[in-house]
Amino acid sequence: MKLAPSLLAADFSRLQSEIARVEPHVDWLHLDVMDGRFVPNLSFGAPVIAAIRGVTDLYFDCHIMAVEPGERLPALAEAGVDLVTVHVEAAPDPTDAARRARDLGLDFGLVASPATPFEAMAPYAELCDVLVVMTVEPGRGGQPFMAEILPKVETAREWVEKRGLRADIQVDGGVNGDNAGRVAEAGASVLVAGTAVFRAEDPVAAVEGMRRATRIR
Ligand code: DX5
Ligand code: ZN
Repeated sequence: MKLAPSLLAADFSRLQSEIARVEPHVDWLHLDVMDGRFVPNLSFGAPVIAAIRGVTDLYFDCHIMAVEPGERLPALAEAGVDLVTVHVEAAPDPTDAARRARDLGLDFGLVASPATPFEAMAPYAELCDVLVVMTVEPGRGGQPFMAEILPKVETAREWVEKRGLRADIQVDGGVNGDNAGRVAEAGASVLVAGTAVFRAEDPVAAVEGMRRATRIR
């Protein structure tokens, strides 16, 4: 199980120390890039990512919430991300975006918002290193976990197992120590958690609690 804290919930006035605190205890850093169009909000983009690239060796998992996500790949690659995931709602045929990502040396994945069935990304699963199932509406942190989406995680897991695909199954949104066990049981191999980690009194204890929860079940 890989844990990927989402920087969206960190204290933006001190990103370096927020990252340093969790770095030894986590696997990836999840970076939510928004464009104010695909989702109403803005967060941060390539310049901020380039700055934090200088202070950590964590694998950068960049979740792109933008229309025309393919257009953003060169700048994000230049900033130092390792993985880009694009919404299948923004790229219904992601073949071109996947090719552009590969050409830039990036890992590639697809994301499905809660209302989007797994079937929308299934035909492209073999292009992907990661398939992301969102358990909140994209666009902001701190929303409640949508347990009714767990069957989609199971469907994704079955799909990759049956075909022997390499893709990780990532679950993003509202994940915390209370639901991490259920999420793992449904078949997730990467857990994203923003609020549950960076807004916790003790982020390291929060991460360890989630890890324990995924092992018990
Ligand atoms: C929502 C983002 C999530 C978010 C998760 O648009 O994709 O990554 O930061 O935050 P929490 O864990 O607070 O739901
Ligand atoms: Zn995200």
